[in-house]
Amino acid sequence: MCGIFGCILKDGNAAPIIHGALKRLEYRGYDSVGEATLYEGKLYIKKDQGKIDEVNKIHNLDDLPGNIGIGHTRWATHGAPLQINAHPHLDCSGQIAVVHNGIIENFSELKQELENIGHVFRSKTDTEVIAHLIEHAWKTNPSLSLAEAILEAIRRLEGSYAIAVISPKEPNKIVCARNESPLVIGVNENSIYCASDIPAFLPLTNKAVIINDGELVTLSLEGYEIKKISDSSLVMRKPKILDWTPEMALKQGYPHFMLKEIHEQPATLRNTLRLQEHYLDLMTTFLDRAHEVFLVACGTSYHACLAASYMFSKLAFLATYPVIASEFVEQHGKSVNIDSTILAVSQSGETADTLAAVNCARQRAATILGLTNVIGSTLTRISRVYIGQQSGPEIGVAATKTFTSQLSVLSQLALRLAKKRGKVSQDEMDFLAEKMEKLPDIVETILQTQEEKVKQIAKKYKDAKTFFFLGRGTSTATAYEGRLKLMEIAYVPAIAFPAGESKHGPISLVEQGFPVIFICPKDGTHKTLIGNIMEMKARGASIITIIEEGDSEIRELADDYVEIPNGVPEVLSPIPYVIPLQLLAYYIAIERGHNPDRPRNLAKSVTVK
Ligand code: G6P
Repeated sequence: MCGIFGCILKDGNAAPIIHGALKRLEYRGYDSVGEATLYEGKLYIKKDQGKIDEVNKIHNLDDLPGNIGIGHTRWATHGAPLQINAHPHLDCSGQIAVVHNGIIENFSELKQELENIGHVFRSKTDTEVIAHLIEHAWKTNPSLSLAEAILEAIRRLEGSYAIAVISPKEPNKIVCARNESPLVIGVNENSIYCASDIPAFLPLTNKAVIINDGELVTLSLEGYEIKKISDSSLVMRKPKILDWTPEMALKQGYPHFMLKEIHEQPATLRNTLRLQEHYLDLMTTFLDRAHEVFLVACGTSYHACLAASYMFSKLAFLATYPVIASEFVEQHGKSVNIDSTILAVSQSGETADTLAAVNCARQRAATILGLTNVIGSTLTRISRVYIGQQSGPEIGVAATKTFTSQLSVLSQLALRLAKKRGKVSQDEMDFLAEKMEKLPDIVETILQTQEEKVKQIAKKYKDAKTFFFLGRGTSTATAYEGRLKLMEIAYVPAIAFPAGESKHGPISLVEQGFPVIFICPKDGTHKTLIGNIMEMKARGASIITIIEEGDSEIRELADDYVEIPNGVPEVLSPIPYVIPLQLLAYYIAIERGHNPDRPRNLAKSVTVK
């Protein structure tokens, strides 16, 4: 997730306006920033790594001439957060400046093709191919307008993008386009804007035009012209008047960041499916060679590791050891060695306990692999290989979208390893890959069809003193995560454990009306889990189940149930099955009058041991 912005003003300098808008987009990314403006036929650029305020202190971003320009605030995906990788990016001639939010999946092929015909790339970003493709289209046919050259270029792109482009060849225009990354236009009498999101221009205008996937827009002081990318046909769309406050705009109309981020998951999961194969393959190679693999993390990230240990074992026949980072040194500090591999999972990449475990393992010459949401974080700097999970910044303290993205990356790794080791047939591989592709849609369906039901369940159980969260197999991890969500934001004490453990102690707590949540995908554990439900029911527990659609057997045993579309393979089940649990925690927190975005005593990133 990055933020893009562009503006054309009738009077005055664009740079301070861009700077202000980028500050309002900083929630979308903040590892680098850049602006480009046009003045008297020349392109002016300032860009660097660092937060906007830091970069401004050094470069004085407002000091760029011209009434037209574009800007970018970055959340690195391809290429480290360095000045050279900051946007805007230019073509060879330095006449085309591009800012981009999204991921170009076929960028390696395009880059190779462009290099073969003489283009020279300066950065490691996927974005730079766009500038060179436009340059190529223009070189091939100099009579094209900027918009036409861009159309030719973007028809070659696979992946997601929202772009804004300026060039001294057409000095009064900004051309922007979108596919699967957000883009909105703001209009005023004396100015026009394009941005990733409404908050960028909300203090400047309340008239907005939402741009749809597959559309290109040319902006000028005369107005805007929308065209379909596929056939260049014109699209007519009038601006809407917004009555949002800036606070509402930032949350895109949701009452809390947590709910917004829960709803972003179909999009973030689509992003994680666009990871560069190269990184996945590299990490798979390290995992394949490893003698012992520790999956090390804290909190929600630890639950992703726990789920991953089932995935690696079931798919790739690789035994891994999930370890809570704060225990790693005590538990394994003496035995970890040159033959050990540590896969550290941390959305922030800065959690002190995780870094301490990694440092202990490094000192003993173990191989360090990292999975994080923040490229440029400490974890990325000390890992032999790392993968950026591409969820975009998460503002709610309770991790939601970063968790499902971690699960997605880890399951992709397990699948690749299985393939490499010849542990799954081609048919099975194709089946799992297809199911993985469908997960974003499945999550979308759950959000559309089950949220109301979860809200009612939250109302019904809001005063419960405690809950059990139970699952078997891979769903044990889902149960742990559901319990953590409820505890951290709704302040309800809750207990999670593998359902088979009930009779070894916890069942003594159960009395009439005690709420027990069961995670029940229709996998190999289904039958045994029914036994566990029966034993709870016999003691008067209220049974709440997350079941596969049409699972009448469990539905009839349950007091309340939430349904997940059927056909999700067991190893992928934590991704959809955790969604109702995130919503349940959210709505119980609301019912109990708590702010889910700011749970007491907790921090988003814990940098002390
Ligand atoms: C804190 C956060 C949790 C998070 C944990 C690990 O406790 O409140 O939401 O899961 O840290 O964070 P990490 O950034 O390492 O994933």
